[in-house]
Amino acid sequence: MNTKLISAYDDRGEIVDLSEAAQILREGGLVAIPTETVYGLAADALNGDAAAKIFAAKGRPQDNPLIVHISDLEMLDGLVKEFPEPAFRLAQKFWPGPLTIILPKTDKVPPETSGGLGTVAVRMPSHPVARRIIALTGKPLAAPSANLSGSPSPTTAQHCVHDLLGRVDAIVDGGECGFGVESTVITLAQSPPRLLRPGAVTFEQLKGILPDIKMDPAVKEKLEQGVTAASPGMKYRHYAPKAKVVLVDSDLDSFTAYAAAHQNGKTVALCFEGEDKIIPLPCVVYGKRQDPLTQAQHLFDCLRQLDDMGAQMVYARCPSQEGIGLAVYNRLIRAAEFEVVRL
Ligand code: TXA
Ligand code: MG
Repeated sequence: MNTKLISAYDDRGEIVDLSEAAQILREGGLVAIPTETVYGLAADALNGDAAAKIFAAKGRPQDNPLIVHISDLEMLDGLVKEFPEPAFRLAQKFWPGPLTIILPKTDKVPPETSGGLGTVAVRMPSHPVARRIIALTGKPLAAPSANLSGSPSPTTAQHCVHDLLGRVDAIVDGGECGFGVESTVITLAQSPPRLLRPGAVTFEQLKGILPDIKMDPAVKEKLEQGVTAASPGMKYRHYAPKAKVVLVDSDLDSFTAYAAAHQNGKTVALCFEGEDKIIPLPCVVYGKRQDPLTQAQHLFDCLRQLDDMGAQMVYARCPSQEGIGLAVYNRLIRAAEFEVVRL
């Protein structure tokens, strides 16, 4: 398949006419689009055949449901059985933005989109290009992250090109994503509500609106064998570079001594800004230690860089779990397949 590359902005920084991307989507095609979190691989959410193509292009397990993206609240009509009062309060505070809400679905949402579940995940992105494309298409768009299944989520159009060239109809380049980690996912389809995936909308912020919200144990820990994942995506190996990754929870001195003493093949440190001058190993810097947003913005690109360097063993400095830092920790422990060394 020939993949069309479309620049979303002209020389003056204005959004170009994106009707071609919308036309492809209306006809059941696949288009990678920028959002404020990560790039999404979009298709018409109400067209089961179109949604099925997403799974084929990504190599995604069929039972892992997709997030449905809307550009205004009217688009929810007929998708969810009801939009309860807590959902309204969340939407008022966090939409458009990086929050996904799971609710019981109607029959209008095909099983391809919902992974066969009785619920559907919905979110209203804030990225102007995503919003323009959804509105021009005039339909809700199903969009998982636009990476090959198992690879780090894409935060630039180049990442999408690397993974999906020849596998999708078009890739829309909207520059680097603002947050760099996927949206916060919560479910209101059960009581009490539950945080399934941490993101830029933090657990503390959600507690302000939903005082009884609980954090799913899978956010911070490996699911025990035989336990059903509340969110199917949580059971798959994720975000992983080819190297073996170990998360080291310690101060810098202990980290440095440990990493230097436990080299195994090409060994690289994934560290914070400035620490690359101290650690006597090749380093990839993923952000400022005290600024978790910078870590979120660069983490996935850094995981891809590790592959490009041919890293075989990676020791990663442990992020704090404050604010968006919890999302960084959640993605890193998955990249490390839950191997954490505490010194
Ligand atoms: O920021 C994001 O959310 C990005 C952009 C493109 O919007 N999308 C994204 O989609 O990260 P994806 O498919 O990579 O992750 C969706 C997660 C998966 O873990 C999936 O299992 C979960 O949400 N999910 C979707 N629908 C669900 C449902 N009905 N019940 C439980 N989990 C659901
Ligand atoms: Mg994904």
